[in-house]
Amino acid sequence: MAELLSIILAAGEGTRMKSALPKVLHPVGGLPVVSHVLRTVQGFGSKVVVVVGPGHEAVEAAVTRFEAMAHISRQEQRLGTAHAVQQARAAYETAPGHVLVLYADTPLVTAETIGSIVAKLDDGADMVVVGFRPGDPTGYGRLLTEGDRVRAIREHKDATEAERQIGLCNSGIIGFRGDALRGVIDRIGNENAKGEYYLTDAVELATGDGRRVDFIEADAAELVGVDNREKLSEAEATFQQFKRKEIMAAGVTLRDPNSVWFSWDTEIGRDVTIFPNVVFGPGVKIADNVEIRAFCDIEDAVIGKGSSIGPFARIRGGAELGPDVHLGNFVEVKKSKIGAGTKAGHLSYLGDAEIGTKTNIGAGTITCNYDGVNKDKTIIGDNVFIGSNASLVAPVNIGAGAYTASGSVITQDVPADALALGRARQENKPGYAPKLRDRALAKKAAKGK
Ligand code: UD1
Repeated sequence: MAELLSIILAAGEGTRMKSALPKVLHPVGGLPVVSHVLRTVQGFGSKVVVVVGPGHEAVEAAVTRFEAMAHISRQEQRLGTAHAVQQARAAYETAPGHVLVLYADTPLVTAETIGSIVAKLDDGADMVVVGFRPGDPTGYGRLLTEGDRVRAIREHKDATEAERQIGLCNSGIIGFRGDALRGVIDRIGNENAKGEYYLTDAVELATGDGRRVDFIEADAAELVGVDNREKLSEAEATFQQFKRKEIMAAGVTLRDPNSVWFSWDTEIGRDVTIFPNVVFGPGVKIADNVEIRAFCDIEDAVIGKGSSIGPFARIRGGAELGPDVHLGNFVEVKKSKIGAGTKAGHLSYLGDAEIGTKTNIGAGTITCNYDGVNKDKTIIGDNVFIGSNASLVAPVNIGAGAYTASGSVITQDVPADALALGRARQENKPGYAPKLRDRALAKKAAKGK
């Protein structure tokens, strides 16, 4: 395969998003839109140049954070897509192979589509245009085709009524043989309805030179351009459909696929069952044979084999659960390690904790990890029994095999195998209850006067 250079155009202003955040940084599946495109071309070992607009430092930072090898070119004035490509001149002038032009706001273009472009270029095409048929073609450039070749792309504003009847539109993703790009890019003018340098004019110039311009037609769903919030939600919906299919194909049961939301990097093992209404934020890895019951919210967490989670559990902040852990309803785990076979069945907050194996965390256990300024750790050994309604005031260490009495406030370390009674002892006063009742009735009668 020839060497690949990808030029990703990201200099658009994105005003229709009505957002302080640049449009290409809005997340789809928990990953910025532009990073989806970077990931896809990285899969082909492509070199990358991202063309950004003035004042887009946040985009530059996000790009280089995701892909340290990506180069940034700045387009100081937004004079059109051909002008944007010209800003990457240093890269394409020396590129021996193919050059792909993609849009940073079109995140869902698939590896199959990129692979088809590359295959056609390898097969001798000089340019390959990715076409699609949107529900409403208004505003898009139309592909003027002859057989399986493209003669020209006509922008909507410059098109005749007859050309506007064409349903096959330009997605904006175009592949070039390097020499074909170098042969046309500087001959593109701006005599058109928008007064912009249109990259799409490259097609007519190339065909005029006797070059071969092919097209492929891809699914409209994968070519959605995120330029307003409605398109963002469409992209999210399509991403989720792709990901649900991928996850189910890998051996996961989704009881109600449409109500389970994944992130781009969610990894789930085999024979995992996920009940309805579960949301996975970024950074989740789940081993085999896990059951996740309804209404759980899980991000930045590793869950060991055979564990059972939820309903209504929240796991986050780098939590690491060993195998066969059980977390029941209304249990939150943050930045904690939980050993094999440990159970927290109900109503607990376990934050900044290290818990051993086969320990039982009673209902209502809270690790008091925050004093308003500092976060401290709670360390609990193996085979510990924490009685219900315990406040474990960190920093605190509870030794292996220890018991804590229910209702305890544990402020001191508990040695291994000790029983910690962290509450006032109960005292029974025989016959005292009627006196209390009489006192209460007398008070009511006094008020009634
Ligand atoms: C472009 C295509 C059109 C296609 C449509 C698909 C041209 C002339 N037209 O039109 O055929 O159907 O996309 O969405 O190419 N950009 C820059 N710098 C610029 C101008 C644009 O970086 O100076 C980037 C934008 O960030 C965006 C992309 O290029 O990612 C497309 O720009 P936009 O102005 O939205 O193009 P359209 O007019 O929609």
